[in-house]
Amino acid sequence: MPMELAPAHCPTLNADEAARLFLTDHTRDGTPVVIRAITPEDKYEMRDIYPTLSERTLYMRFFRVISAPSLEAISRYTDVDFDTHLALVVLWGPEQRMVAAGRLIRATADSDVAELSCLVIDEMQHRGIGRVLVRQLLETGREWGVNRVIALVHAENHAMLKLLKTQGYPTELVYDEGEFTVTLDTHLPPTDDNDINHATVGAMHQGIEA
Ligand SMILES: CC(C)(COP(=O)(O)OP(=O)(O)OC[C@H]1O[C@@H](n2cnc3c(N)ncnc32)[C@H](O)[C@@H]1OP(=O)(O)O)[C@@H](O)C(=O)NCCC(=O)NCCS
Repeated sequence: MPMELAPAHCPTLNADEAARLFLTDHTRDGTPVVIRAITPEDKYEMRDIYPTLSERTLYMRFFRVISAPSLEAISRYTDVDFDTHLALVVLWGPEQRMVAAGRLIRATADSDVAELSCLVIDEMQHRGIGRVLVRQLLETGREWGVNRVIALVHAENHAMLKLLKTQGYPTELVYDEGEFTVTLDTHLPPTDDNDINHATVGAMHQGIEA
């Protein structure tokens, strides 16, 4: 049974404002990070990152092991309109190195449903960067007018499943053929209660743990 959604709240963040986002946050050990809107210039650093990614990381993100994309292909991820496609990068350390990127994509600029995806580079995984990035994507998405966020997550991607289930939003997980479609109802602000309204469909009887 799909979750019931309340009427959409009004967006407070337009595309121009989204394209100028620049925030600071901290990972769970207190390390400061910068989270900012992606820019076309980021394509060069992203091109250098792709060959360093492990097969597992690529598979978890793209559901197949892709070969390093061309600069032109990468520009589709960096030259974004912030109307239908909002992307953020996480910068780390004194050199402000790019260690993660994440995005929300929706069909039209007035749609209140967006798909979320993200990637943290291998050597920086499990330090809390994914958590701050996903939290910021969800918060920014709410301001951007998104009431429902959908992510396709491999069933073995326990870190991503945990990240999504513990953001304080009602969450529905539907299992099919090795992946979960995770839907977060973000029309209300998050609560501190991580056990709220998690519904899992299709996985239990197949012995899959979400
Ligand atoms: C999935 C991913 C985004 C998570 O980011 P991260 O920075 O590594 O994750 P975090 O350090 O923020 O940890 C997330 C949570 O998962 C938990 N976790 C990590 N590995 C886990 C595992 N194997 N099983 C269960 N939980 C796990 C962590 O304990 C943490 O929970 P906590 O904050 O309550 O302690 C990152 O690992 C990644 O980019 N993976 C490859 C690409 C990918 O999977 N993208 C998502 C596609 S939708």
